[in-house]
Amino acid sequence: HDTIYILAIESSCDDTSAAVLMNDKVLSNVVATQAIHEEYGGVVPELASRAHQQNIVPVVHQAIAKANIDKKQLSAIAFTRGPGLMGSLLVGTSFAKSLALGLQIPLIEVNHMKAHILAHFIEDETMIPPSFPFLALTISGGHTQIVQVNDFFDMKIIGQTLDDAVGEAFDKSAKILGLPYPGGPLIDKYAATGDPHKFEFTIPNVKDLDFSFSGLKTNILYFIQRQTKENPDFIKNNLADICASIQYTIITILMRKLKKAVKLTGIKEIAIGGGVSANSGIRNALIEAQTKYQWKTYIPKFEYCTDNAAMIGIVGYQKYKNEKFSQQDVTAKARYVI
Ligand code: KG4
Ligand code: ZN
Repeated sequence: HDTIYILAIESSCDDTSAAVLMNDKVLSNVVATQAIHEEYGGVVPELASRAHQQNIVPVVHQAIAKANIDKKQLSAIAFTRGPGLMGSLLVGTSFAKSLALGLQIPLIEVNHMKAHILAHFIEDETMIPPSFPFLALTISGGHTQIVQVNDFFDMKIIGQTLDDAVGEAFDKSAKILGLPYPGGPLIDKYAATGDPHKFEFTIPNVKDLDFSFSGLKTNILYFIQRQTKENPDFIKNNLADICASIQYTIITILMRKLKKAVKLTGIKEIAIGGGVSANSGIRNALIEAQTKYQWKTYIPKFEYCTDNAAMIGIVGYQKYKNEKFSQQDVTAKARYVI
């Protein structure tokens, strides 16, 4: 069997996704995003699991149809075991177990955080994989980690957030400015025409390679409250400059820790992942670091940055080759460290 077909399922948060991979190539990667959470200004776990329940069958059907294979050709089913929202994980886990049982093929559990990192190894003409060892910065609405990656199955978290994730820092700041959820992309958009040095926010002093973003949120909240008291139109009149200054602060925090991690480990290969990788501030900072610090930086294709099943599939493929299979008694795990 030279050709391995993996069906991958991701349901850890609010995106239901299924993908089919032929070895390390993505044949299909279907993502159903759940618009329902927008009206609540954040992900509502109970609504997320209900939406997964509705989406999972059509999404898997679509992924198989788009890949143009017969389900009898599938070699294994990979699924996200955790970390994530329990109710959401249960849907994908139960579905994957049942389908593997029905098709009589192996089941492969995948750690979502590992998948964000190994997404770089998807075969794609627009992407070059980093070489081991490298540092992975995973930044999204749910995670903020620096991981030292020595090999596919040998990685260690060397820094992480003590409270909010970077994406949350963007989204909560956006909320303070009255922008809709998720506000990260909007801050990015308005920041483009603003002055990043117009307003100054505090950069927290956090130990080692760890992060903290909850103080920044409070800092921004008080600042906005103070300013709007004097001038009710403050946000409206300064939106671009406020967004640029917030983005500048967040990127500075990330880059300082990355620089520290490079210094401590001596590793200059840097790969990012997670939804916040779409941010133009971090992208520019990383591109600049190539010449400024002689780093080699890797940014995956956007569809492999945000939550997607293709990244679960690439880990599934690696585990399949190494015969790392799961048993039918495997359970979803909300807190699941790399
Ligand atoms: O990886 P992702 O799709 O889902 C998880 O949270 O796992 O990441 C979503 C997060 C949200 O917080 C969103 O605001 C943020 O990524 N985000 C951005 C940008 N695009 C997405 N934040 C800043 N700038 C962006 N361009
Ligand atoms: Zn994620």
